Amino acid sequence: MILVTGGAGFIGSNFILDWLAASNEPVVNLDKLTYAGNLENLSSLENDPRHLFVRGDVRDSALVAALLRQHRPRAILHFAAESHVDRSIHAPGDFVQTNVQGTYALLEAARAYVAELNESERAAFRFLHVSTDEVFGTLAPHDPPFSETTPYAPNSPYAASKAASDHLVRAWHHTYGLATLTTNCSNNYGPFQFPEKLIPLMIANALAGKPLPVYGDGRQVRDWLYVGDHCAAIRRVLEDGRPGQMYNIGGSNEMTNLNVVHALCDILDRLVPAERSRRGQIAFVADRPGHDRRYAIDAGKIRRELGWQPAHDVTSGLEHTVRWYLARQDWVARIQSGAYQEWVERNYGTRGQA
Ligand code: NAD
Ligand code: TYD
Repeated sequence: MILVTGGAGFIGSNFILDWLAASNEPVVNLDKLTYAGNLENLSSLENDPRHLFVRGDVRDSALVAALLRQHRPRAILHFAAESHVDRSIHAPGDFVQTNVQGTYALLEAARAYVAELNESERAAFRFLHVSTDEVFGTLAPHDPPFSETTPYAPNSPYAASKAASDHLVRAWHHTYGLATLTTNCSNNYGPFQFPEKLIPLMIANALAGKPLPVYGDGRQVRDWLYVGDHCAAIRRVLEDGRPGQMYNIGGSNEMTNLNVVHALCDILDRLVPAERSRRGQIAFVADRPGHDRRYAIDAGKIRRELGWQPAHDVTSGLEHTVRWYLARQDWVARIQSGAYQEWVERNYGTRGQA
């Protein structure tokens, strides 16, 4: 079996659903259920004995040690994190706690666990750390995309905390011989993404007739990847990745934020016609402090070594995602009814028009 951390979040829940659709290998899912964790994402696995949910913090060493001893997983897949850049600007301490301290605690638990395994179990064990392209910082318009040898230059508290965790993972491989794998992926989109992130936020606001808050001039570039493609890449890295290595994952789908928002408006206008185009709801607001201008991934290594490539292009992926959010407005509404409101007020209330 495998141990997944953060499996009630956006990517983790997609990963578990895909994993159990493709295999019968059980999953222990350790998640603290922060504001971003939502067991509703996994409701289709209710009563499925292959999924065991445990509510807990990755920093709880005693709990993690007990889970490892009891379930003896062949791998730990570490998704749990604080993941939203804007929140990291308002409350960086949570990011240091979960992303840095949490990864450290998990590495130490893994090291102690592996020491007790027999030789063949130890040889098979993997610690897969799910990270981000944001650790590489920002690119100028004509810079080549990030590769695995691009120097780290994180710019936001979120990126810095993920960079720190990547360094810990690297060191635990070099110093202690832990069989680690690190994946650095570009921006994901798809079902179950929390509606504070660009794409689900824009879909929700567009449908509600609210302004579509574009930071700064909206010309920042992100390299978008459908979440299912990210999950498939992680499965490939887990099976055949070389311990100690990093793998960059991306869709080669560079788009400006403004073009993403235009595309979403156009899809919505087609699927749910309104009197006026949703593009008219776009509102330019004050930029994010330290906002990275461009991210782009060179995914050549994972393509060459592991034969992975994305199955979804951004046109079909975005349409699929919009259709999912249209069908699951109940899911969004339940999230928006709680503490989420406080966040919206905090992040957007004081921004004003740009
Ligand atoms: P998310 O915020 O949707 O989910 C994070 C999950 O981790 C939540 O279920 C939360 O409850 C859980 N969690 C948080 N703190 C915890 C703790 N201390 N102990 C246990 N569980 C805890 O995040 P996501 O978008 O699914 O991202 C998952 C991982 O992928 C993160 O490590 C993130 O850095 C990385 N990543 C995300 C993207 C993206 O575009 N979303 C891109 C590349 C990499
Ligand atoms: P986000 O989804 O927060 O991902 P990240 O910051 O990790 O790339 O944001 C994607 C891009 O969209 C980023 O350049 C910031 C921008 N953005 C807006 O313009 N308005 C918004 O309301 C949000 C949430 C993001």
